[in-house]
Amino acid sequence: MPKTIAILGVTGTQGGSVASHFFSLGWHVRGLTRPLTSASSISLKAKGIEVVQADIDSPSSLLSAFRGAHVIFGLTDFWGPYFSVFNEKKKEGDRATGEYAYEIEVRRGKNIVDAVEKVLEEEGSVLERFVLSSLPGFKAQSGGKYTFVYHFDSKAVVTEYLRGKGRLWERSSVLNMGFYADNLVRYGGILGAAKDMENGVYIWRKPCKPTATHPFVIPSDTGFFVELLVNSPPKQDLLGVSEMASYADYMKIWSEVTGVPSEVREISVEEADMAAPGGVGREAAESTATSAEFGWGEQLVLPTQLDPEFKTTSLRGYIEGEDWKGFLSKI
Ligand SMILES: NC(=O)c1ccc[n+]([C@@H]2O[C@H](COP(=O)([O-])OP(=O)(O)OC[C@H]3O[C@@H](n4cnc5c(N)ncnc54)[C@H](OP(=O)(O)O)[C@@H]3O)[C@@H](O)[C@H]2O)c1
Repeated sequence: MPKTIAILGVTGTQGGSVASHFFSLGWHVRGLTRPLTSASSISLKAKGIEVVQADIDSPSSLLSAFRGAHVIFGLTDFWGPYFSVFNEKKKEGDRATGEYAYEIEVRRGKNIVDAVEKVLEEEGSVLERFVLSSLPGFKAQSGGKYTFVYHFDSKAVVTEYLRGKGRLWERSSVLNMGFYADNLVRYGGILGAAKDMENGVYIWRKPCKPTATHPFVIPSDTGFFVELLVNSPPKQDLLGVSEMASYADYMKIWSEVTGVPSEVREISVEEADMAAPGGVGREAAESTATSAEFGWGEQLVLPTQLDPEFKTTSLRGYIEGEDWKGFLSKI
């Protein structure tokens, strides 16, 4: 009998990668989704994945979906709740939307942890590993300098909550995903793709030194990180990094691949805030600034520390494989 992995966010980026990777390894994959009728749910079912209805806001639905799983992948989505209220909440002040989404993410993260704990209590030794997708607390990491990075700080609260769950923590590990390498192609509009061409040079404005290094992750590597955590001792705090690189490194490769000259130009957090007002520009900018100035934390373990042979997708491999046509047509 193949082992079962239950996956939150199966219709999304991280969960989708975990599902296809474990499916290719021969596991029974059970994906959790809110609407069973969505195009992604139907397509996953057609591929042979068991798709079950569950909502993180409904603990009983999590319990049914988690029962019998040998591995559970937990994920919360900060940005869905954030953007669903952004236009209204921003009128209350720049922190209002971040604070709102923070509360929801903490509540949902704790719901997941509580449900996994309950299933562990009920089923004894069935559950072998719980992997929580999380992020380090950047307010603490920056020594209190940056306080707007709600999407990191909320996840860090859930990690701490999980660490306090004695028996469950003994079977858990945390995956801290780096910056998605496809953020540029996905969110080009927000990043200013439509207006950032100067004399034929694409300008990417970032609130950090262009040469500062960051952990980039190719999202399709997520499944490999989860497999690594399943095969490693528990209680790991893993940095999900495909390649450490600077934005200057990124755009050098990007220019070589697309043939479009580019420049990474340093701006201040305040300028980033003004370019995307209402708190969203600052939220993103302070995460970049913390990463550049303070790093992600010495406590995080790298994939190659768990397995010296561990292979990830290179930035060049990702950039060469990406379809940049739509992005380029907008600049
Ligand atoms: N962009 C980056 O650089 C980056 C880097 C590191 C971490 N992150 C974090 O990644 C997280 C998002 O992960 P992703 O990119 O994989 O998400 P995604 O592609 O946007 O998909 C979101 C997933 O969450 C599920 N979901 C949302 N609310 C749910 C609920 N109440 N109950 C059950 N499922 C729910 C959705 O499922 P259904 O709609 O099918 O129900 C969907 O599968 C965010 O919290 C973000 O902060 C992003």
